[in-house]
Amino acid sequence: MWLLTVFLPLMRVYLCGIKVLIYQLLNRSFTLPVLPKLSGRIAIVTGGARGMGLETARHLAGLGMHVVIAGNDETEGLAAVEKIHEEAKEGKAEFMFLDLASLKSVRQFVHRFKVRGLPLHTLVNNAGIMLVPEMETEDGFEFHFGLNYLGHFLLTNLLLDTLVRSGTRQRCARVVTMASATHYGGTLDLDNLHSRRSKVALVMFTKRLQDRMAARGLHVTANNVDPGMVDTALYDFLCGAAKMAKRPFTGLFFRVRALRRRLIAAIVFSDSSIINHLVWRTPSQGARVQSDVLKSLTPAEGASTAIYAAAAAELEGVGGRYLYNGEDRPSAGCTYDVDLQEALWRTSCALTGLQEA
Ligand SMILES: NC(=O)c1ccc[n+]([C@@H]2O[C@H](COP(=O)([O-])OP(=O)(O)OC[C@H]3O[C@@H](n4cnc5c(N)ncnc54)[C@H](OP(=O)(O)O)[C@@H]3O)[C@@H](O)[C@H]2O)c1
Repeated sequence: MWLLTVFLPLMRVYLCGIKVLIYQLLNRSFTLPVLPKLSGRIAIVTGGARGMGLETARHLAGLGMHVVIAGNDETEGLAAVEKIHEEAKEGKAEFMFLDLASLKSVRQFVHRFKVRGLPLHTLVNNAGIMLVPEMETEDGFEFHFGLNYLGHFLLTNLLLDTLVRSGTRQRCARVVTMASATHYGGTLDLDNLHSRRSKVALVMFTKRLQDRMAARGLHVTANNVDPGMVDTALYDFLCGAAKMAKRPFTGLFFRVRALRRRLIAAIVFSDSSIINHLVWRTPSQGARVQSDVLKSLTPAEGASTAIYAAAAAELEGVGGRYLYNGEDRPSAGCTYDVDLQEALWRTSCALTGLQEA
């Protein structure tokens, strides 16, 4: 049982991680192009208080947006708002409580947002957890599936009418949903949705949403973003044996990646201090000693594709993409199965108590 529920999923995540690692070692990370000003437009970023969500919220506020940070830790959320207000000249941020592990909380959040009568131009479904111990959400769903997928499924659907009203032919409303390379290691079994299949479900949901919107001529686009492997607190959720395995793996990863850049920089800039920096004990130590030129994959770098999907002019009207490192990539084969997408949609409606549109 342990083999099936803990060891195999963990190995699948690690294999996906190794593939991403090799790609990231061999390729440059995506650099954001100049983005248009988005003054007066409104965005919701789930999990926007830390990690890539915070970087996304900061950047969108920097472009002039009014950003609602939707999260389940008020102290962290208010600190993020303060930080954004210190930096953003035009945009603004606010915190609203949302616990994606509770369908009731999702409904309450949407109600509180809607009574204000605000438009919604961008929804970034960013929040997520990974490899937390076996437990269930308030509604009895497997935690990853309930929080990562069903929480966002319900949130997006309940906000869809506002998104539809806010999108125009010239400027569509956008739904950006964080996926992950781990989705390549998963399949979708509709009879066993309470397993760790949240990211593959999010990819199928996004494709279905895009097709549904396009079929009805509505001005809402939906894209997935795969951020690559990013040094955030997401990995703090690893437990027990996973934590032991994680340390050397991510430690090696962030060290090797930074080392590669450092070597290149040493050649290019004749950096004579290189030897001093070769023996980092932890990824954060490594990150601390790096200059701007020599950074490893930071939350800001990791968030760049999500920011691009949320704001880039060249993605106007474009949907159904799986964006990785700023480029469109094929997602896992099973995610293109339209019958399965539709079946997942119907099942998700039933599980969340949503009336089918
Ligand atoms: N880091 C990576 O290498 C990587 C790779 C692939 C995909 N991703 C995806 O990228 C997204 C962002 O992850 P990250 O790396 O930036 O991780 P992170 O720093 O751990 O951020 C996750 C965010 O999700 C929020 N969250 C967790 N439980 C929540 C709940 N019940 N209700 C509302 N919000 C909740 C957290 O808020 P609180 O602090 O309030 O709990 C936090 O702000 C996730 O969807 C993740 O799966 C990350």
